Amino acid sequence: MSENSKTTPFDGAKYRQVLGHFPTGVTVITAMTDDGPAGMAIGSFTSVSLDPALVLFSASKTSASWAKLREAGKFCVNILADDQEDISRVFGSKADDKFSEIGWKRSANGAPLLNGVLAYVDCDLHSVLDGGDHDIILGAVTDLDVKHEGGALVFFRGGYGRVAF
Ligand SMILES: Cc1cc2nc3c(=O)[nH]c(=O)nc-3n(C[C@H](O)[C@H](O)[C@H](O)COP(=O)(O)O)c2cc1C
Repeated sequence: MSENSKTTPFDGAKYRQVLGHFPTGVTVITAMTDDGPAGMAIGSFTSVSLDPALVLFSASKTSASWAKLREAGKFCVNILADDQEDISRVFGSKADDKFSEIGWKRSANGAPLLNGVLAYVDCDLHSVLDGGDHDIILGAVTDLDVKHEGGALVFFRGGYGRVAF
């Protein structure tokens, strides 16, 4: 039995190891708050519905950045390009000022749109569902566009890779 849970017959390391074999793209989800810009790296982003246009991601209930995005009520999903590993590392950390080394401008909804991203998706916060130790966040898409047609940054087995076309 697990050391972590009476109902889960495996431990957290096994869960992370197996699920790490599912490759994901890397996004940075940002929002503008009264205290300035906030953002966090997110690999759990995915599209959900075309009509209405909905996307989702999951965020740890303990994340300080997710609390700020939630308060803002709207956010921008920045889809990282294959040369943006450094940005993923910064936004995957608990650094005080994650925006100090990167250029950005405001997207249509006012959230930070990072320089050099492949594409972005602006959303209003639609709903928040319970997902165990994470919240599952649905976003209603309000604006989106492709910024350039380069390769994508990928996260796989705990490391970074690239998808190039
Ligand atoms: C590639 C990558 C993907 C990540 N995906 C997620 C995710 O889907 N959900 C999540 O809660 N955290 C994810 N994280 C971790 C958060 O980015 C990190 O915990 C957060 O930025 C910590 O800062 P905070 O406590 O200020 O929110 C990911 C990190 C990296 C590097």
